[in-house]
Amino acid sequence: MKIFLDTANLEEIKNSAEANLIDGITTNPSLMAREIKRTGLESTDILKQITALVNGPISAEVISKDLEGMVREAKELKAIAPQIVIKIPMTFDGMKAVRRLRAEGIDTNVTLVFSANQALLAAKAGATYVSPFVGRLDDIGNDGMNLVGEILTIFENYNYKTKVIVASVRHPKHVKEAALMGADIATIPYKILNKLFNHCLTDQGIERFDNDWKDAHK
Ligand code: E4P
Repeated sequence: MKIFLDTANLEEIKNSAEANLIDGITTNPSLMAREIKRTGLESTDILKQITALVNGPISAEVISKDLEGMVREAKELKAIAPQIVIKIPMTFDGMKAVRRLRAEGIDTNVTLVFSANQALLAAKAGATYVSPFVGRLDDIGNDGMNLVGEILTIFENYNYKTKVIVASVRHPKHVKEAALMGADIATIPYKILNKLFNHCLTDQGIERFDNDWKDAHK
């Protein structure tokens, strides 16, 4: 399973890129706004810097809600770097934009997907990626990972090439379940990436080896 980092924070991206663990990046308007405030940089400059740090796909979201606005913004974003993927919200106009961008060879990531039918429509429109938001579904008492299973089954039934990005990841269990289900990608916040390294027995083991070593070298 590929791991994308769900952030626009340049420090977090730099640090993760050093370990070569990250296959791509997803951003959204909230994450970009946070980084604009933190750095004082314009969103275009932030995206340029991200593309210099990571080789894989970098999702950048349009702000417009209308078809022409979305297509115009998509082209502006794509001009920043070829690896930019255009994040489009799951709306009627959004799917028209996906179709137009597909015809021009521009990759899209359909975002804010909360049902299997929405994912089906995105695949039919020609989306490169679809992003079910599992954490936000869990938050309202639904089962986010169940939706991922449904989408994977539907895409397999009809041989859709659209890749599933498990998004709105809240804890390591989401990541493990995504991998067990065979999801293509999980996009995870930096905080969760750090948690994936942790196990109390690893910490105890390191401490014990350290103490034994020091004991023998007193
Ligand atoms: C995905 O592409 C989104 O940026 C993200 O996963 C949203 O997650 P949230 O529910 O933590 O905001």
